[in-house]
Amino acid sequence: MNENEFIYKKDNSTVLEDGSFAWRAPSNIALVKYWGKREVQLPENPSISFTLSNCFTETTLEFKKNNSLKVVDFGEYESTSRAASFRIYLDGKEKPEFSDKIGSFLTRIGKLVPFISDYDFVIKTHNSFPHSSGIASSASGMAALSLCIMSMEKALNPSMSEAQFYQKASLLARLGSGSAARSIKGELVVWGQHSSIQGSSDQFGVAFPHEMHENFKNYQDTILLVDKGEKVVSSTVGHNLMHGHPFAQQRFAQANENLSKLSEILQNGDLEAFVNLVESEALTLHAMMMTSNPYFILMKPNTLQIIDKIWKFRTETGSNVCFTLDAGANVHVLFPEKEKVRVNDFIARELVDFCQKNEYISDSVGSGAKQM
Ligand code: DP6
Repeated sequence: MNENEFIYKKDNSTVLEDGSFAWRAPSNIALVKYWGKREVQLPENPSISFTLSNCFTETTLEFKKNNSLKVVDFGEYESTSRAASFRIYLDGKEKPEFSDKIGSFLTRIGKLVPFISDYDFVIKTHNSFPHSSGIASSASGMAALSLCIMSMEKALNPSMSEAQFYQKASLLARLGSGSAARSIKGELVVWGQHSSIQGSSDQFGVAFPHEMHENFKNYQDTILLVDKGEKVVSSTVGHNLMHGHPFAQQRFAQANENLSKLSEILQNGDLEAFVNLVESEALTLHAMMMTSNPYFILMKPNTLQIIDKIWKFRTETGSNVCFTLDAGANVHVLFPEKEKVRVNDFIARELVDFCQKNEYISDSVGSGAKQM
């Protein structure tokens, strides 16, 4: 699908002077990882994630028409003109340090939602997880802001269908942060074109189109906060490591194969195969970072201690608990809902000591963003 099909078409009948929209958008955890991108913010391989429930961003977008502003000609995406004027607050405190990121996002999406240049905005945002948890807020944050902007578009153009609304929200979110495309709608979301996922696209995320086996319903994700510091490698630097990486092409092919396999697994409920594939994906992501140039080790000693404990516990008890990792040291411990009691007990007894200040977040699969 061509991006130009998503350009807002002016409907002169509706006037929107001022008001506000608010959305809560979830974080997500990738099972098959997105690692490597091309212009503009398109993935080198398809990825799939569980949508989370307790980790989310809530954003209120207040807008007021500024009749003195002229409509900016955005041309192609990378325009130097600012899309709209805005102020941004996190938990009630103004955050000028976020301005560059939000400003370039608004500029980048300006061609698709040109009406935003007519308004002054106040963006008020809150994350359910601590800012210094090492959990990236870019996916949930960009998704929440994109949904607010789409609510404006819907108000201006009420004939827009629900499907168009969510598709374009995901596309806008993707232009802010790739993984944000998967933080809009659905328990399992695929972003990136793949032959076994009908309707999948590099432009936006789609809900997994097949029936998910009950083994995966309400799957649990306990996030162990091993390192709560700032990211050592920013996502942009990280994705760029795949340019010219000696194993890049094999990796992209493997991600495609893994998505085919995982699509089957998610339908047939094979937990053993799930554990094997998900852990392999996590370690492959880190292997890509270790074998790039410059090279990075983002795991910490405690990350490895936790992985070792999980493997021992699985061997001793036959549990289906497993781990996955983001581009950092924190560990996502994944397990079926029916193992909740014994795995929570294992986490409390054996894993919490490896977390900074013993902190962790209990989460589970959620269904997507909600308007507030
Ligand atoms: C390791 O979506 O944060 O979490 O597109 O540059 O914003 P940008 O990157 P980002 O990358 C996420 C990478 C990952 C894997 C994943 O979520 O699929």
